[in-house]
Formats: sequence, structure tokens, C-alpha cells
Amino acid sequence: MFVQPLPTLRREADTLVILDQTLLPFRSATVALATLDAAADAIRHMQVRGAPLIGATAAFGVALALARGGADDAVLEHALAVLGATRPTAVNLHWALARMADVLRPLPAPARRAAAWAEAEAIRTDDAATCDAIGRHGLALIAAITARRPGPVRLMTHCNAGWLATCGAGTALAPVYAAQAAGIAVEVVVSETRPRNQGLLTAWELRAASVPHTLIADNAAGLLLMRGEVDLVITGADRIAANGDTANKVGTYLKALAAHAAGVPFYIAAPHSTLDFGCPDGRSIPIEDRGADEVCRIRGLADDATIAELSLAPPATRAANPAFDVTPAALIAGIVTERGITAPGRLAALYPEQAR
Ligand code: MRU
Repeated sequence: MFVQPLPTLRREADTLVILDQTLLPFRSATVALATLDAAADAIRHMQVRGAPLIGATAAFGVALALARGGADDAVLEHALAVLGATRPTAVNLHWALARMADVLRPLPAPARRAAAWAEAEAIRTDDAATCDAIGRHGLALIAAITARRPGPVRLMTHCNAGWLATCGAGTALAPVYAAQAAGIAVEVVVSETRPRNQGLLTAWELRAASVPHTLIADNAAGLLLMRGEVDLVITGADRIAANGDTANKVGTYLKALAAHAAGVPFYIAAPHSTLDFGCPDGRSIPIEDRGADEVCRIRGLADDATIAELSLAPPATRAANPAFDVTPAALIAGIVTERGITAPGRLAALYPEQAR
């Protein structure tokens, strides 16, 4: 079982302690969240991020709301509504809230507090086990490449779908950690993922784990794929529609297009909580628009070791900031789930109980 070097979140008494990802990769510090609003803000402002981790944080957010505000129907429904409105694209958020609602709504108010903590904790531990299973299945893809030729497997990823994005090993990076544990050499190509630079979180994780990796500007991905310098691409997902169309961090679609043109297999790694059979295809997936500031400004470490923000564009520059895009199922070689690897169009056969 993969053990996170630092827990992305953990309960401490009646608070939720999170690793504040807005400070990474410059500094690692935790924050204790004590209220519903603090949990909602942490999701909104991306102190926690990554689809499975957002879902788990929302579940604990419900527990915080009930611990502080009483546990009657009004408090519960308010918490579900506030948390449900924080970020629109990652369906794991809604999946986790629906799971909390199903457990808590039928209970009498006095029984809800303990049940909320217990269910949030179950979501956390289930996610960790799910990541391990994704790692085991994804390992087969990497092992198949080493069986064909000598040398390290060159895997490209986008954004951060590692342990920082989950309660366990991650999704797209779980097979990398599994390969490392199995003694298979992997080199990871990490795209920086403008505007929020989640690729830097991936590089930080991989460096800490001693996994060889190379950071590239997002726009360099096409060239590397065309030159045959990548064996496979694996990214995570925020929502997978019934037909396999997949929303993930903006820029994923361009990688899938370039991989397709270069004949490099492009995989998605994701748990059951990312599947949305209520969305028939990618057109019905809501895409989060974030502020222009994220495009026009950038964060970094100043020479005096403070975290500083700089303007990249003149004031009042108009900027668009769609945070996700949708990769059509036709560009996806397979989806690595905790139940195995499937063609995108065959998800319903693997998850009949969810597809119903
Ligand atoms: O905006 P973010 O950082 O929450 O977006 C994260 C991603 O797009 C990840 O690739 C996705 O959530 C999968 S995380 C296992």
C-alpha cells in the first residue's frame, strides 16, 4: 500500500488538517480547517485540488458543518449546497456529497455528527485503496513497454494527478509509483500546466520520490511526441461522460491530439468517483471558468525566499481562463480504473451499478 509522504488531509479532533497546496512547491505547510466556510474556501481557492481530493474535502466539510452548526436538516442541506457550488467540473465533489447525503439524510439529527465523520473517513480510505488498484492495473501498461525494448519507459503526464491530488498514490502517477516499487525504470515528462502550474506539483512529488523526470513548457509536448521521445501518455480526469469523453485540466486535449497524430497511446487513469453516467457525452460536462488574474499573474519564489506574485500582462488585459477541456473518447486508448483497463466506450460494462 502506498503511504503518502505527507497526508493531503487528515482529521484532528473536530478539525480537518490539509496540506496547503497554494504554497507548494515552495513551502509545505498545513492548515487546520474548522468550519464549513473554511472547507468551501479551501476547495474554491485550490488549497486542496485534484478531483478525488476535492471530493474527500467536501465530505469532511459536511462533517465540520454538522460539528459546529447542529445537525438538523437545514444545516445539512445548507452544507451540501455550499460545498456543491465550490467547483463545477470535478464530479467527485458531487459524488462525495451524494454519498454523504445518502448516509446522513435518513438518520435522526443526534446520530448524524459521528456518522458524518465516519463516512468522510471511509471516503478517504476507499480513495487510497482505489489509487493502489489503479496503480496495479496501470503498471501492466508500463511493464508491457519494458518487455518490448530495453531502457526506461518514457511517460508523459499533464497537470498533477499524483498523491497530492488524492488521498492515496494518485491516479495517473499511481502506475509510476507502482513501477518504481517493481524496479521498472520510468522517466516522466511533466508539462508545467499553465496557468496554475500544477505540473510543478508533479515535479515536486517526483523529485521527492526520486523518480527521474523532465519539466517542459506545455507547448513543447507536441514536438516530443512527434520525435518519438514518449512511449505513452497518462493523465487524470475530472469527469468522464457515459461515452468516455473526458474532462481534465486544460491542455489535456492538445496532448491527446498530438499523441494520436504521433501514434502514441493516450490513457486516462481515474476512479469510479470520476464517472458520470448522467452526462451522455463531453458536451454536457460543465467547464469551470476561473479568473483572468490566474492568466495575467504568476507566483514564484523571490530571491529573498518569499512567495511573490508578478504581473505578466498590462493591467486590464482581457484574458479567458477555462480551467478544463474535454478529450473525445476517440482519442483515448483506454481508461485505467480500479477495476481494470477498459475502452472508453465500455465503461458501463465495467460499472453496471453506476450506469443504471
Ligand atoms: O484544477 P485542479 O488542479 O483541481 O485540476 C486537477 C486535474 O485536472 C487533475 O488532472 C484531475 O483532477 C485528476 S486528479 C487525480
